[in-house]
Amino acid sequence: MKSSNRVIVFDTTLRDGEQCPGASMAPRQKLEVARQLARLGVDVIEAGFPVISQGDFASVREIAEQIDGPKICGLARCLPGDIQAAGEALRPAGKRGRIHVFLATSTIHREHKLVKSREEIIRLAVEAIRHARSFVEDVEFSPEDATRTEPDFLLRIVTEAIAAGATTINIPDTVGYTTPGEFAERIRMLREGVSNLGEAVLSVHCHDDLGLAVANSLAAIQAGARQVEGTINGIGERAGNAALEEIVMALQTRRDVFGGLETGIHAKEIVRTSRLVARMSGLHVQRNKAVVGENAFAHSAGIHQDGVLKKRETYEIMDPMAIGWGETELPLTKHSGRAALEKRLIALGFGLSREEIEALFGKFKEIGDKKKFVYDDDLVALAEGQITRI
Ligand code: KIV
Ligand code: ZN
Repeated sequence: MKSSNRVIVFDTTLRDGEQCPGASMAPRQKLEVARQLARLGVDVIEAGFPVISQGDFASVREIAEQIDGPKICGLARCLPGDIQAAGEALRPAGKRGRIHVFLATSTIHREHKLVKSREEIIRLAVEAIRHARSFVEDVEFSPEDATRTEPDFLLRIVTEAIAAGATTINIPDTVGYTTPGEFAERIRMLREGVSNLGEAVLSVHCHDDLGLAVANSLAAIQAGARQVEGTINGIGERAGNAALEEIVMALQTRRDVFGGLETGIHAKEIVRTSRLVARMSGLHVQRNKAVVGENAFAHSAGIHQDGVLKKRETYEIMDPMAIGWGETELPLTKHSGRAALEKRLIALGFGLSREEIEALFGKFKEIGDKKKFVYDDDLVALAEGQITRI
């Protein structure tokens, strides 16, 4: 297996992300998101599941026709009709087309959902991969619910999938069940135990049911996975998928820990991409969400504001400008200190002396006690001496 320094970023916002209730997007919206994902620099865009509807088929086809740069991928079950639909939708992408076939492998899925033996599962997966290879050279195989699959069976099906022509093997934590240590162990087990891994890329795809999707993805990368799947803002089934912006920024910010692994992401496009996805999917980003939440770089405590004004790195581990934020926001609240008040007043055009600031500071705190934020209007009124009684 290649052990390069490059981590392939596979974005499934338009497939797994869009699958979550209330997030479905019209083809035009999906195209706009795909365009922005290409600007962001993702390596693969999973554009949809072509067999599930005319709309998804048309959308994958349109993205395959119009988006240059990333590989374009379509999802398919191990069924001839699914693979046919994906192959046709992806035709305009030519050599950049990828078919992603999946089949559940865990006992609970085999016995209760599929009602099939291990041998039948292997046969179906192998036939599907061969069929997909008749449309494209690039085929990804996912043993669904891999983290609850018996290790010996997982090793076997992965080996057979590669022999049948799969070029990427994706290990999904479909129900967000695994933990970082356990998942890393599973990736190591596959790297060591799959004799024909060769040039195939080992990928991971984590869900966030226990809030561990990003941690699990990073642990897998440390254990040797070289493709990571996720969505922008972490949208997706149930509690969502691993948030790509968090993974990318963790790799970048903690290069010391991750041994200088690289992605092709242009970090400056992260905030714009997040906002576009929020707008198009209708799923708003929580204020305190890492990297892209409105509060991610907003320092409100006086001591923190003072520190950031003196040296940004005192309380900021990433440069907000480098991921597409404007200047760090210092919302003024009752917790704010004199330094932040003075900076805001200067920005509003008031060059006040120390004594004048001191005189305003008490009134500023009184306003802060009465409402969540002290707004610019309040400050202007204060500074112009219009507020005499609070
Ligand atoms: O979570 C999952 O198992 C999936 C597969 C289709 C990869 O989304
Ligand atoms: Zn998934």
